[in-house]
Amino acid sequence: MKGTVLLTGSTGLLGRGLEETTPAGWRILGLHQRSYAVASPKARHLVCDIRDKRSVDRLFARDAFDAVIHAAGIASVDYVENHYAESLESNIVGTLNISSACRRTGTHLIYVSTNAVFDGARPPYRETDPVRPVNKYGRLKAECEKLVSETLTSYAIVRPILMYGWNHVVGRPNTATWIYDKLLRGERIHMVDDVYENPLFNIQCGRALWAAVRKKPRGVIHLAGKDVVNRYQFALKVASVFRLDCKLVQAVGSSFFPDIAPRPKNTALSTRRMQKDLGVAPMALEEGLMHMKRTMKA
Ligand SMILES: NC(=O)c1ccc[n+]([C@@H]2O[C@H](COP(=O)([O-])OP(=O)(O)OC[C@H]3O[C@@H](n4cnc5c(N)ncnc54)[C@H](OP(=O)(O)O)[C@@H]3O)[C@@H](O)[C@H]2O)c1
Repeated sequence: MKGTVLLTGSTGLLGRGLEETTPAGWRILGLHQRSYAVASPKARHLVCDIRDKRSVDRLFARDAFDAVIHAAGIASVDYVENHYAESLESNIVGTLNISSACRRTGTHLIYVSTNAVFDGARPPYRETDPVRPVNKYGRLKAECEKLVSETLTSYAIVRPILMYGWNHVVGRPNTATWIYDKLLRGERIHMVDDVYENPLFNIQCGRALWAAVRKKPRGVIHLAGKDVVNRYQFALKVASVFRLDCKLVQAVGSSFFPDIAPRPKNTALSTRRMQKDLGVAPMALEEGLMHMKRTMKA
């Protein structure tokens, strides 16, 4: 056995990507919050609410970890905007409990942040660029980054951008699966054409995180794909790869959705450090979607 990684948020999209890419000899102990059983050959999933300090401390007293990847929390931009108190507790208190336990036990922490810490005005963003969030989710994640960097010396902050891929059955839909489901049902969809990102395949995110576990580079690292696209272009790519009807996809501006949280216009991330320090090349959107098509279950 080479080592054990404690992963918070193991039933999420990132958790699935990490699990699928587990290198030989490594083991994941995964934490999630809701009480359902997740069966998996590659990870052991436990119910543990990271807001509960005593449960977190008990876990660290029982086991030693080679690294902790902290990805749990409320990750929906619009949910955070409308449920701020709950999100504050989940993201800030949870991060405080995990960081304190890592500090006490001398465990290396990889905190999973987001591209939403940027305002979207000056892409592509490098790790050294100042953060300037435009919504509550981005502000919360920026606060968590600060908390981690002020509590620990052995840490990395990774910032994935818009992730897509197959999820655990209990997971929430992501951009690719949502578009796929709608088009498969023959439903018309409106996709914004004025918000840009370089989407990240969750399997590629998993590979980058395993490299971060093994090599333990310090500081901030951006994780992103090769192609900078808007959501309309994303939807057309899904339609083309899965051979669905692209005429169902209609381009709209952000003002079409007046009730959602503000989004930064272009948060494309530089992948230079991901390539140099983690040895992971950015993947084209079409390649990620083709991978999804090949691994699709009935
Ligand atoms: N998805 C993206 O496009 C994206 C982009 C940039 C950054 N990120 C960041 O990447 C990380 C992972 O995102 P994701 O999309 O994989 O998340 P996700 O699919 O929404 O899953 C969230 C995970 O966190 C767990 N969780 C939530 N509150 C918890 C608590 N109090 N205690 C223990 N577990 C808790 C959930 O468990 P249950 O299943 O039990 O609820 C679930 O496993 C997040 O930090 C997010 O901010 C995501």
